[in-house]
Amino acid sequence: MNPKVISVVGARPQFVKLAPVAEAMAHSGVRHLIVHSGQHYDHTMSESFFDDLAIPAPNINLGIGSGSHGSQTGAMLPALEDVFQAERPDWVLVYGDTNTTLAAALAAVKIHLPVAHLEAGLRSFNRRMPEEHNRVLTDHAADLLLAPTEVAMDHLAHEGLAPISRLVGDVMTDVCYRVANSVRPGWRDSGLPDPGPDSYLLATIHRPDNTDFPERLEAILAALAGLPLPVRLAAHPRLREWAERFGIELTRPGIELIQPLAYPAMVAAVIDSAGVVTDSGGLQKEAYLLGRPCTTVRPETEWVETLQDGWNVLANEPEGIGLAATRAVPTTPPGQPYGDGHAAAKVVQALLTA
Ligand code: UD1
Repeated sequence: MNPKVISVVGARPQFVKLAPVAEAMAHSGVRHLIVHSGQHYDHTMSESFFDDLAIPAPNINLGIGSGSHGSQTGAMLPALEDVFQAERPDWVLVYGDTNTTLAAALAAVKIHLPVAHLEAGLRSFNRRMPEEHNRVLTDHAADLLLAPTEVAMDHLAHEGLAPISRLVGDVMTDVCYRVANSVRPGWRDSGLPDPGPDSYLLATIHRPDNTDFPERLEAILAALAGLPLPVRLAAHPRLREWAERFGIELTRPGIELIQPLAYPAMVAAVIDSAGVVTDSGGLQKEAYLLGRPCTTVRPETEWVETLQDGWNVLANEPEGIGLAATRAVPTTPPGQPYGDGHAAAKVVQALLTA
């Protein structure tokens, strides 16, 4: 009988990673079940990704929803345990670094099911980030670590995890290249006015360290509004929620507020942009893969390869955003540290041979 794998996902970046993996699983004959924790539930944050990236609908949606870290992660544990007990898969595959990742890893190891962690070995070394706890704890609970880069492999080796680590490449590269080859650059398919190539910056801000403190949030928005090009700010619900709580206006001269973008629309918008300003991990890397300069509003990045030749520049202090976001486009082309776009097949191969 072909092996059974349960993929557990719940948040937006995990759906992107799931897309190429689900396709590779289907080609290999693996019995693949998709469990959605329900961490993200808005259409623009969840369903649109399944539709646009042709991901099979989840077999089970636990509908956990939002909450504090403890209540959200905690609520997932018994719900996932019930599913795992009923299905007894050969592998539980967890993705990235969200609360869903940690809950699924923990629920599985407690009942002695093998866990594989996709995107293992990333480190920010910043314990203020919820993602850093999630990824470190997940790596140390898992049985098989699927790393996207050499740097991630080095981190795992440093933590004594080399024997269970495999370099597979980055599955987000698979999907980014695939979509980039099929979209029309720009905004024609988005329903929004098309400002034209190189005439705007695309921004997203959603990390708690940037959204949850009124003075910092206001300073970041003021810096974005002061940039010489208009900024299209695709607002994650967390950004809207905290801005409203603080009475901070997101829409202002220089900033056009737009809904979170569907994945193909985001790729099309990055390709046509003059550059990206973000605190997202995925978008930093997508900008790099698509050859657009990125300014990252964080003190560090896990995707250190993007910093090479100035394709990505860290501007944690809001006063530094202006200078960074108006720098010249690097003349050296980006490298290929994230693989050749065929990582998902290697993920499946690693699961079948481990
Ligand atoms: C989560 C991940 C983060 C990832 C991000 C991508 C954790 C700890 N963080 O952060 O690593 O980069 O997803 O988006 O898991 N909300 C809605 N609708 C939704 C989803 C969220 O309105 O569909 C609002 C709720 O008010 C919620 C808040 O956004 O409380 C935050 O959502 P949550 O899933 O807790 O964390 P993210 O900030 O999205």
